[in-house]
This record gives sequence, C-alpha cells and structure tokens, in this order.
Amino acid sequence: MKFHLNDTMNANNIINDVLGKIKPVPAEQQRMQEVADRIISLVDIAAAGTGLTDVSGMLVGSAARGTWISGEHDLDIFISFPEDTPVQDLKTVGLNIARQVAADADNSEERYAEHPYIHAIFSDFKVDLVPCFRVASAARIKSAVDRTPFHNLFILDRIEGLEDEVLLLKQFMKGAGVYGSDLRTGGFSGYLAELLVVHYGSFMEVLQAANSWKPGITIDIIEHRNRQHNDPLVVVDPTDPVRNVAAALTLDRFAGFIDRARQYLDLPAMELFFPGKRVMLSDTEFYNITTSRGTDLLAVVFNKPDVVDDLLYPQLFMLHNSITDLLSRHKFSVLNGDVWAGDGDAAVVLEMEVSCLPPVKKHAGPPVWEGAHAGNFKQKYLQNKGLSRVYIENGRYVVDVPRLYTDPVELIKNELLNCRLGKHVGACIRTGFEVRKDEGLQEIDCAEFRFFLKEFFKL
Ligand code: CTP
Ligand code: MN
Repeated sequence: MKFHLNDTMNANNIINDVLGKIKPVPAEQQRMQEVADRIISLVDIAAAGTGLTDVSGMLVGSAARGTWISGEHDLDIFISFPEDTPVQDLKTVGLNIARQVAADADNSEERYAEHPYIHAIFSDFKVDLVPCFRVASAARIKSAVDRTPFHNLFILDRIEGLEDEVLLLKQFMKGAGVYGSDLRTGGFSGYLAELLVVHYGSFMEVLQAANSWKPGITIDIIEHRNRQHNDPLVVVDPTDPVRNVAAALTLDRFAGFIDRARQYLDLPAMELFFPGKRVMLSDTEFYNITTSRGTDLLAVVFNKPDVVDDLLYPQLFMLHNSITDLLSRHKFSVLNGDVWAGDGDAAVVLEMEVSCLPPVKKHAGPPVWEGAHAGNFKQKYLQNKGLSRVYIENGRYVVDVPRLYTDPVELIKNELLNCRLGKHVGACIRTGFEVRKDEGLQEIDCAEFRFFLKEFFKL
C-alpha cells in the first residue's frame, strides 16, 4: 500500500474531526469533576457516620483517567474498605453508605454483581457506588472489583499524553460494534483499549498491529504471565498475572475489529467511527427477502425473565444452541440464527435451510458379520411395520422406518423442555412459549424486532 501526503492529511483531518466530536471540552470536564468530588465527599461523610475509620470514596474508571467520551457521563465511584474488613461488614456497611449517598440522587436502584452495589442517577450522570477491599496487591483480591483501583494506578502512570489516542480507539471500536465487555457484546472493555494504546503507542499503531493479529496473539506488557489462556486475544493484566483482560472478547468481535482496522488502513473514513443509523425491515422487504431466499423462518418466543443482561444473554445463547442442536439431531438444518430480547418478550430466531422432511428415514443396524447383534436387529424388524424390509447397505443391515418429526415446529413444541436450558430462561419457557413461523414473525408487534430483522438478514 502506498501512502501519499494527501492521504496523510486526509487521515489527520478525520482524526481531528472525530476528536472534535468526542473529546470533552474543559467546561464538561470541570462539571464531571465537580459532580465526582461532590459524590466522593458524600461517601466520606456517610463513612465517617458509621464510626469506621479508613473507609473512603475514590473515583476510578475512565472518568479518573481522562479517557471518557464526551456525553457519556458515567462515574465509577468505589467505597474502599481496609483489607481485613469481614466480607459481611463490607456488604452491609458498604451498601448502607451507598444508600445514604443515593438519598441525594434523582433516582437509584440496587444491583447485584459479586456483592450488592448501587446504581444512581445524579442529574445527567450515571453513577455506580461500589464497595471494594483495599488489598495490598491485585494478586490478593477478595472480590473481582478489587482489581479496579490497581488498573487505575497502572493506567494513570502511563496514559498522560495518550488520552486522545484512547478516545479514538474506543470510538472506533464503538463504530465497529465491538466496544463493551458485557456478555451480550463480547467486545473490548475500556481498560483493554487503554492497555492496547499503552502497549502499541497510539491509535494508528493499534490498527496497524491488528492488521497482522491472529487468534492466540498474546500481549504481556510487564512479562509476568503465569497461566495459559485459550482465547482469541490474550492481554495479561499488568496488575494480575493470572487474568486475561480480553477474556470476554469473542472470536467474531476479535475478527470484526481486525476487519475494520484493515478498512481504515486502506481508506480512512469518518463513518468508520460511528455506527450506522439503525433501520427497520418493512413488510414489503420482509416479503421480498423471504421470497427470494426461499427459506422458512422460525421464532421461539417467550416471556423475558426479569434479570440483568449479563445473566440474560448467556442463557439466550445457550437456548439458541440447544434448539439448533435439537433440530440438527433430527436432520433439520439451520442456515442462520440469532437471539432477540425486547421489552417483555425474548426470542430465538432461526432461518431454516431444511424445514420439511419426508415421513420416512433410514435406520442403520449392525454390520452383517456381527452375528448376535445382527440376529436381534433382523428379528426386531421382521415383526416391525417398517416401511421396507431389512436390506444390506455398505455391509450393514438397514431398514426404512417412519420418521418421528417431519415438521420442526412440532419437534420444538414437543422436545424443547427436554433440552438444556439456563435457570431463568428455563423457568420462563416452562411457563409457556410459542413457535411462530414465516408471516407469524411479522405479527411480533415491536419496533425493536423490526430493527433486529434488518440486522438478521444482514441487509
Ligand atoms: N473493569 C474491568 N473489567 C471489565 C469491566 C470493568 O476490569 N470487564 C474495571 C476497569 O478497571 C474499568 C472499571 O472497572 O476501568 C470501570 O468499568 P467501566 O465503566 O465498564 O469501564 P471504563 O474503563 O470506565 O470505560 P468507559 O469509558 O466505557 O466507561
Ligand atoms: Mn466507566
């Protein structure tokens, strides 16, 4: 690839334009700092009221590192307890402090990770109030969140002057649909983006490196890895030698990032930083696409369990696998499939490659020379009302018998409850589900579902 002066200028213009949109201006930064300071002092006041010394509030995450994107007002505020605090005290006292702080918020709710924490809204700021242990090193964590203050120190020491590079990389990952280490996205976390910039030196150098990434690529910034990981990308946590920071990254998000990086290296374009506008699939398009593809569509629809996305999506993926396995065991082959969750309903949607089978199937028996088995098989199917006599094919006895399921809808209706189902999704499926087919999908009355269908057909 030849790189001309014009291209460089163009790339620089794009980068400046993107930064103009995503970099917080001083006034926004100042407001963020004021809100953070106010909440931290509320934590400290509430902590003093409990009579415990040495409990204090601290700002962590991208807000503490100057690597947050304009408009995204998300504050990660930790309530830090001495290491020897009993777990039960951390839970109860921590939650009490968080509740007192949240009394000043516009809105708040308790959430559950390893320990309970509070998610609160202070004007247009989304604030997580998270109790943690102040351990001596990240290798001695007592709960997963205890690593975060160490991440903060590691990045703060190295990120000065590289903040814009992180902003560009995060925004580029958003444009590619690969940002977020939640279990639905399976993408890159903010900390991972920061580590990549620290390691490679800049946004462009990360893209250039990604151009030659292959699954299994390992980055170990301080060379202290002490465990083998079997993930597409391994970035050893500089604060904890056993952890892969990229553990949540799926193979397809990894590949999606490489693909986008290559596109940008070939031809830098502003659009690559921003996700395209989502569009709905119209009735006409639905008719046209299903007619031209000639496939049947199935949707297994049920009430969505009331759990957080990090619990919901892994169970939806498991349901998707269970249904696809069930279908393929019965010789119905699935061309494409995906999961969907709306406000009240959730669904697994499948496009069938084979959705109708004849009422006959072959049933293979033992090789003719396996005396005893062969005798039993022949005996059994002599009396059986098979659709053929027992015949020989490739040295084995074979008989044609009636097929149990000729219609995948019947199969799913009768057998789904015998499949492996996640806890919450399983409970909802057991209270009832329906299997919709073809035009039946159009009746799912929800705009979100139309957006989903447009994506489903990769239009
Ligand atoms: N964290 C982590 N692993 C995750 C998610 C979070 O280690 N999968 C830690 C990181 O130290 C991170 C902090 O928790 O910095 C806050 O998480 P989050 O708000 O999700 O990420 P940020 O780094 O703040 O990035 P963003 O700009 O997207 O808020
Ligand atoms: Mn954050």
